[in-house]
Amino acid sequence: MTLAVIGGSGLAVQAPAGEPMDTPYGRASCALGEARFGSNTALVLARHGLQHEFPPHRVNYRANIAALKSAGVSRIIATYAVGGVTPDLGVADLVIPDQIIDYTHGREHTFFDEFADEPVHIDFTQPFDAKLRQSLLEAAQRAGQSTTDHGVYACTQGPRLESAAEVVRLARDGATIVGMTAMPEAALAREAGIAYAGIAVVVNPAAGADGGDHIDESALWQSIADASRRFSEVLSCLD
Ligand code: HPA
Repeated sequence: MTLAVIGGSGLAVQAPAGEPMDTPYGRASCALGEARFGSNTALVLARHGLQHEFPPHRVNYRANIAALKSAGVSRIIATYAVGGVTPDLGVADLVIPDQIIDYTHGREHTFFDEFADEPVHIDFTQPFDAKLRQSLLEAAQRAGQSTTDHGVYACTQGPRLESAAEVVRLARDGATIVGMTAMPEAALAREAGIAYAGIAVVVNPAAGADGGDHIDESALWQSIADASRRFSEVLSCLD
């Protein structure tokens, strides 16, 4: 059961220098590394590249998932930095999302671009793997980190942040957190037959959600740096 961790913006993984794997879908974001998380040795991939050179809409999600698949990965834990849409979520809160709403566009979002043999429509009723979510929840508990056991992840296109009105709409749609990277990553993992779950850390109140009239980007990056340690603590308690 080979595990992989996909690290988001500055989060939890240190990928090695070296040539990224070439796949039929192009190059992965970086070479695959290896790291120890609790009793697991996991492959690690920095979603945005070693130098953080790929913005969310330019990440080659298909190549990343294809690279992990060809390395024999059967479980992926993804880390995300997100904005908090609902007022109960504060900066540094951890969320294990259980649902997704996809607002992205123009991304290469499927391995089934042509129906070579027969139509393929994967089931995505539950976008995240229940067993892997449970492992994350238990790891967080062992690490002494409180987490929110539900979350509706709104995936926006980026790279800009949202307008306040857009965040009002996300809340109306039922979203509780907003980020830019869970899609098409989660759907591609499902298409590839890889169990996938994610852990998100809130690094800012989403635009206008706290009544503010702007988002302080330097505070956001500071929160991301702080979050890395919390993710590592949770992941190091995986059984
Ligand atoms: N919106 C979208 N993506 C994000 C945010 C946000 O407020 N914060 C971190 N990633």
